[in-house]
Amino acid sequence: MGLFSKDIQTMEDMLLHGLRDIYYAEQQITKALPTMIEQATNRDLAAGLKAHLEETQKQIERLDQVFKKLGEKPSGIDCPAIDGLIKESNETAGEIADKSVLDAAIIANAQAVEHYEIARYGTLIAWAEELGHDDIVRFLTTNLNEEKAANTKLNTVALRKGVNRKAAS
Ligand SMILES: [Fe+2]
Ligand SMILES: [Fe+2]
Repeated sequence: MGLFSKDIQTMEDMLLHGLRDIYYAEQQITKALPTMIEQATNRDLAAGLKAHLEETQKQIERLDQVFKKLGEKPSGIDCPAIDGLIKESNETAGEIADKSVLDAAIIANAQAVEHYEIARYGTLIAWAEELGHDDIVRFLTTNLNEEKAANTKLNTVALRKGVNRKAAS
């Protein structure tokens, strides 16, 4: 291998890279959620985000298990995508004075994060299955299902618990 060889050579490398990416992303999410919880006025929204913060901490523990199963030390790598989503989320929230409008924005921002996670976990599961790493698939699937449930809950809060209606009135 030369000095300028690329870090990702195989699909195994790519899987590991993806796991490090989501590991970093989950950690950034645990740092971003407390501010969103603080800014939320709607009780269902604040409670939902708080529950998902606790879930996220468990998700990181599951990823620790995934690295362990693969014989790798848990570690993250920069994920500019999640950094960008969080940066934009903070910027838009900072521009909004009306509490009801802010709630609708927080939901939209949180859903962008959930969709990112859903995309990533979906891919990681498919790759892990292809590579025969059945022992890590169940951990990743649990995380994926929590992200999907979190997204559905945010939809419910926006549409059926009146956050969007209040923001529009
Ligand atoms: Fe997550
Ligand atoms: Fe999530």
